[in-house]
Amino acid sequence: MTRSLVKASDLTSKDLFAIFGRARELKSRIYARKPINTLQNKVIGLLFEKPSTRTRTSFESAILRLGGGAIYLAPGNLQIKRGEPIEDTARVLGSYLDAIVARVYAHQTVVDLSHYSHIPVINGLSDLDHPTQAVCDLFTILEVKGRVQGLNLAYIGDGNNVCHSLLLACALAGMHIRVAAPGGYKPDSGILSEATGIGAKTGARIEVFDRPEEAVAGADILYTDVWVSMGEEGEEKTKLEIFQGYQINADLLRMAAEDAVVMHCLPAHRGLEITDDVIEGPRSIVWQQAENKMHCAAGILDYLLS
Ligand code: CP
Ligand code: NVA
Repeated sequence: MTRSLVKASDLTSKDLFAIFGRARELKSRIYARKPINTLQNKVIGLLFEKPSTRTRTSFESAILRLGGGAIYLAPGNLQIKRGEPIEDTARVLGSYLDAIVARVYAHQTVVDLSHYSHIPVINGLSDLDHPTQAVCDLFTILEVKGRVQGLNLAYIGDGNNVCHSLLLACALAGMHIRVAAPGGYKPDSGILSEATGIGAKTGARIEVFDRPEEAVAGADILYTDVWVSMGEEGEEKTKLEIFQGYQINADLLRMAAEDAVVMHCLPAHRGLEITDDVIEGPRSIVWQQAENKMHCAAGILDYLLS
């Protein structure tokens, strides 16, 4: 059966751990240069409305490594640019392709793509969620810490798409998550209640605080993302002022567990949400996290499509 991944909560806990298993297996096959052909005869479109270094390249590379074909669809070169509705675009693309990976501004666009295309659609980031990122983040934690269940992750910064996907994925994995965000930038209340509901079954505690110090005490993982997301450029000045004090730096890291690790989905702005010494320091696992985007893209594609 093939399925979409529009929101992190489209997955069950069982799906999430099964994807980790596939990603681990595929990572070792890729390292050993063993041939993989689980996507043979499958053609996958990558429709990206916003820039991307990691998500697009990691998915394209994973598709090729798994024996499939990838077609990059630049919205500027599609009839979408001239006003063709997403519903019509989706129906037509659905008849040419076996799946679509889409990065969009409005979350509704990826919902519509999935609904009208009748093929699996993987959300490569929307204004609401970034599910493939959270899969990669938790997979990386599993590699580094040997477990995910019962660990404490502190997310410092904007209650944005990356924060939402982490809330849902941590809840699915039974990992506690504490978010510290300023007033007006807390995570979406619907996502919070969904994560809390999932957490009630898996044992994950979901908590939201005002100050970073409250969230990081004893944390096993410190995580941050940019203060100004793509599409929010007009709010840059206001947000840069509001988020002062929500930086992962050496002082904040000292309040976490002794063996705490630091993560960032990237791209990073050194001197804003994270300091250069921390991102380049021995506790940073951001490069392993970034590499794992490809292995998890492979795991997700393999799990959803083959
Ligand atoms: N982390 C992430 O999604 O990076 P890109 O914007 O480069 O895809
Ligand atoms: N929150 C960021 C994530 C980038 C990967 C954005 O949406 O721009």
